[in-house]
Amino acid sequence: MAKTYKIAVLPGDGTGAEVVAEGKKVLNVAAQKFGFKLEMTEFDIGGDRYLKTGEILPDTVVDELRQFDSIYLGAIGHPDVKPGILEKGILLRLRFELDQYINLRPVKLYPGVDSPLKDKGPEHVDYVVVRENSGGIYTGTGGISMKGTNHEVAVQSMVYNRFQVERCLRYAFDYARRHGKKAQGKGSENTLGLVGKTNVLTYVFDLWERTFNEVGEADYSDVRRDYYHVDATCMWMVKSPEWFDVLVTSNMFGDIITDLGAITQGGMGIAAGGNINPEGVSMFEPIGGSAPKYTGMGIINPLASIVAGSMMLDTLGEFEAAEAVEKAVIEVTGTKIESLAAGKMGYSTSEVGDLVADAL
Ligand code: IPM
Ligand code: MN
Repeated sequence: MAKTYKIAVLPGDGTGAEVVAEGKKVLNVAAQKFGFKLEMTEFDIGGDRYLKTGEILPDTVVDELRQFDSIYLGAIGHPDVKPGILEKGILLRLRFELDQYINLRPVKLYPGVDSPLKDKGPEHVDYVVVRENSGGIYTGTGGISMKGTNHEVAVQSMVYNRFQVERCLRYAFDYARRHGKKAQGKGSENTLGLVGKTNVLTYVFDLWERTFNEVGEADYSDVRRDYYHVDATCMWMVKSPEWFDVLVTSNMFGDIITDLGAITQGGMGIAAGGNINPEGVSMFEPIGGSAPKYTGMGIINPLASIVAGSMMLDTLGEFEAAEAVEKAVIEVTGTKIESLAAGKMGYSTSEVGDLVADAL
């Protein structure tokens, strides 16, 4: 009997539905070709539902989502809803409640894609950021007191415990061992670089650095260890991205450097990410937002969503299918599409989905 995966689909806001539709199209072709089934169930979550009913993410939905093999997300963010409500109430809540403690973000420049980096091609921009996704400033305690007075105080703390740091680092070491440059036949060693700020954040990144060295020495002596300050990392991501293999970092730093990484790989039209709980339910998404101004026009680029689908297949264990979807995307970027920008692709959203499906 063909293996069946239960996928929860959350199109979300804005152009989310349009890109997810193309992702589903390609995923279904992959399923047929590689002999598995995808049972997709759609959930209406997002700004429109919130504005209509006041509901953001009912507890019953969170519990239902725990029963799926994976979650396929479009985009969260609505122009008529105050910033923070949907992001915290849906995206971050799912990450935290489903304990998706890894945010995996490949920074890979595909053939045919323009990078703003001078003289850099696909052979230079090809690394992965493992962003810690369950702690740090995102979940640290804080608050405001004496609001509106001259004495107003605002605090938001960067909080990490050893458990969170260690499980993230172990995932990153394992990832470097399996997918690093040596594992891919592209270099002589697999390297994991820790991105921190040990010269200023001397408590939190001391914990990260000590754990990094202890765990690396004890269990991953085959993986080379590097350390970079986060500010310098931004510089090298622009100047010498070919240095990097797998990078691991905290939640906030990871958020920031992966937007920089995304633009070096051609922008939000192509950048995808996975919110991964290796022992539970993971969630895959294009990392760009809901792009409200393009909603319903059929001009948004669905490739990031399709790449997110490929990452989902990989995490489900459908490695061949995952690779085939990525290869199909590469064929389309390399031979068809003019630009990744919305409205400038030379094709409509659904035509790009068709091109990838045909290539597959
Ligand atoms: C991302 C986004 C989110 C984050 C926002 C929308 C809460 O920027 O996935 O990178 O900060 O993590
Ligand atoms: Mn971000």
